Amino acid sequence: MNVSCNDRSAINLIAPCLRVLLGQGDVPKLIRYEESAPARKDAFTLPPFEDGPPQQIVRLIAESLRSVSSPLEVVVVPGCGTFHVADPPRRGRVAGKVAVVTGAAQGIGLEIAQNLASAGATVALADINADGARQAARELCEAHGQGRAAGLAMDVTDDASVQDAFDEVVRTFGGLDVLIANAGVLKAQSVKTLPVKDFDFVTAVNYRGYFLCVQKAAPIMAAGRMARAEYTSDIIQINSKSGLVGSNRNAAYAGGKFGGIGLTQSFALELIEDGIKVNSICPGNFLNSPLWSDPENGLFSQYLRSGKVPGAKTVEDVRKKYEQMVPMKRGCTVEDLMKAVFYLIEQKYETGQALPVTGGQVMLH
Ligand SMILES: NC(=O)c1ccc[n+]([C@@H]2O[C@H](COP(=O)([O-])OP(=O)(O)OC[C@H]3O[C@@H](n4cnc5c(N)ncnc54)[C@H](O)[C@@H]3O)[C@@H](O)[C@H]2O)c1
Repeated sequence: MNVSCNDRSAINLIAPCLRVLLGQGDVPKLIRYEESAPARKDAFTLPPFEDGPPQQIVRLIAESLRSVSSPLEVVVVPGCGTFHVADPPRRGRVAGKVAVVTGAAQGIGLEIAQNLASAGATVALADINADGARQAARELCEAHGQGRAAGLAMDVTDDASVQDAFDEVVRTFGGLDVLIANAGVLKAQSVKTLPVKDFDFVTAVNYRGYFLCVQKAAPIMAAGRMARAEYTSDIIQINSKSGLVGSNRNAAYAGGKFGGIGLTQSFALELIEDGIKVNSICPGNFLNSPLWSDPENGLFSQYLRSGKVPGAKTVEDVRKKYEQMVPMKRGCTVEDLMKAVFYLIEQKYETGQALPVTGGQVMLH
């Protein structure tokens, strides 16, 4: 498919390509796009290019930049716009990477975003709760420095919303190296009574939402690979142990999560040619998270009220029952999850896998 110089596909190709071509070693730059910027003497102007296949455009840009010896701060692409170049953070386990985390306004997504920022990543927090995502991003900027995070509106079930959010990521940071597809919802009930609209809602977020995010992110990540053959990037889906074994009275959730692993395996087979590794993490229950521990609506309170755990008289009894189900006798924590996230990013020889983090509760066959 041809890329036209004056549409958004050009920005989504040129910015990630510049990030990688101008980067030092394997650390890409940060790029901020501006449609019309005031002329600057130190700007480097690329020759105008014709509409054409992405590989051809990337080749032309690489050839034009070959003659440049000093670091560039501003690159102008006639007919397309201005690309401002900046250095990313240098310290940390994922220093220099740009990560997009979906469902990052609260819960596990927020904690992943916080941990990635602490480890040197620049982070885009995307959520249907745009205000929550923006507030969380502001706090990350206060903690780690201006420009280290951005909050974005994204409804993962909506094609246009997902595209707009990834376009904004490219205009703000120049692309992405890591997508954490975390947004997820749960409505548990018997198959005999679950309203079809609830089944559709859970499936739309957990299954369709993952597909849409990968569909919009993959071409941007692939542009980096066109620029440099060694460049790799990562898609990590936050799945669940319910993606590996069935979940009683929770079919919509488990079905969508099982489907997510099918998507991961299929994306992995296709996208490895673009240097994109695709893996899922399947955590056990986060028993300390509000989902479980909230005194009013947490699952411990709900299960106590509904008598789901026979003989349980207190919330503590319900909690103990769930801890007893784990060979390691405790719930999953974000620290456990982050070890898996860092492993998947750092390793160079695995794709299409579903990595359990369940304290031994679920084992692979
Ligand atoms: N909490 C657990 O015990 C547990 C266990 C295993 C896996 N998980 C998985 O971890 C992920 C996060 O779970 P959590 O417990 O943090 O949930 P949470 O409800 O605390 O947070 C989910 C976030 O996703 C956002 N979101 C919901 N619908 C969205 C949409 N359409 N578009 C964009 N954002 C949307 C919400 O606004 C919220 O910020 C989910 O995928 C879940 O399945 C959770």
